[in-house]
Amino acid sequence: MSKPSTTLIHHPYTPPANFAAPQPGIFKASTVFFADVAAMRARDWKTKAGYTYGLHGTPTTFTLEERLATLEGGTECLLVPSGLAAISLVSFAFLKSGDEVLIPDNAYGPNKALATGELANFGITHRMYDAMNPADLAAKLSDRTRLVWVEAAGSVTMEFPDLPALVNVCRARGVVTALDNTWGAGLAFAPFDFNGSGQGVDISVHALTKYPSGGGDVLMGSVVTRDDRLHRALKLTHMRMGFGVGVGDVETLLRSLPSIGLRYAAHDRSARELARWLSGREEIAQVLHPALEESPGHANWRALCGAADLAAGLFSIVFDEHYSTEQVDRFCDSLNLFRLGYSWGGPVSLVVPYDIGLMRDASVARWPYKGTLVRFSVGLEDVEDLRADLQQALARL
Ligand SMILES: Cc1ncc(COP(=O)(O)O)c(C=O)c1O
Repeated sequence: MSKPSTTLIHHPYTPPANFAAPQPGIFKASTVFFADVAAMRARDWKTKAGYTYGLHGTPTTFTLEERLATLEGGTECLLVPSGLAAISLVSFAFLKSGDEVLIPDNAYGPNKALATGELANFGITHRMYDAMNPADLAAKLSDRTRLVWVEAAGSVTMEFPDLPALVNVCRARGVVTALDNTWGAGLAFAPFDFNGSGQGVDISVHALTKYPSGGGDVLMGSVVTRDDRLHRALKLTHMRMGFGVGVGDVETLLRSLPSIGLRYAAHDRSARELARWLSGREEIAQVLHPALEESPGHANWRALCGAADLAAGLFSIVFDEHYSTEQVDRFCDSLNLFRLGYSWGGPVSLVVPYDIGLMRDASVARWPYKGTLVRFSVGLEDVEDLRADLQQALARL
């Protein structure tokens, strides 16, 4: 007769199968049991045919991966601990010493920092290109280019590039394209099938931290492909680098993912309304929101996202140049509902002032505005309350 502690560890009870409920079951594991040595020897962590170790997948992580692959129109998905980890997974999977990566100058800043701060240590060079000029990308591709990043809309400055044209330039040279699809979220356009053309990027990375989570409380990223060869390369690097995700966070994502379409549309509606209203204010020199006609790349947005008529909840404004940085800081500090903080996609509206001059390489493209830029992530508060908050803060400029 075993002692209680042994009995409790090796308890014989197994609950009945066929439990069905709105949310999938949550499995927590580092260790996974094998039925016998033959099964252990036959393990294959590269596919979803079975289980080998928590790091390589559980029913819970597989379920989230499958749902995210469906959201983006891909066939394979890998989960990583953050959106930035998704970017580094792609870079380390496809770049080696002597290779070059091209990054749009308006890309998410830490993607550029990864290239300058880490990839350079491995003998991997990078060049920035002008995302609004496919000819600039074509001119910068070389025999050493192995990976090209694209992003739509551009980070902070919100220019919407001609994605199909950028992808065509790379395809003609056989270079892998990776999209930071956090803004589009698999909803505004189909990353692997632009306008039903069958053409799209090779890889889509998504900071699940933003709209898929929707709570401002989880960090996670995904890498989706629909190319088995690329997926296998990513899976190998993923395994070697040990990119695990916490099952509690996976559970949160599974809970919030079903409402992503409703939330995304609501963020979009309020953001467009506020962006249009701000474009009529005399304090503002330029509103940067791809769905607004005066915004750079609006025609590209319309061509790619017009059918869905979706545009996320992010936009930026450039203040008239006669307002000093101190005045714009006072505007930001005066906001009550918009909180100062990074990231986006959660229920709380956020605001961040940026110095674009420090973020851009002047040799790639000239930033045309002199005034200070402020970026808003519009949350799920009532839009009239948000408008009133902006109005009272403008009055304190
Ligand atoms: C466009 C974009 N991509 C990637 C990321 C990185 O996501 P995470 O914060 O999960 O690392 C961010 C975060 O702000 C982002 O804005």
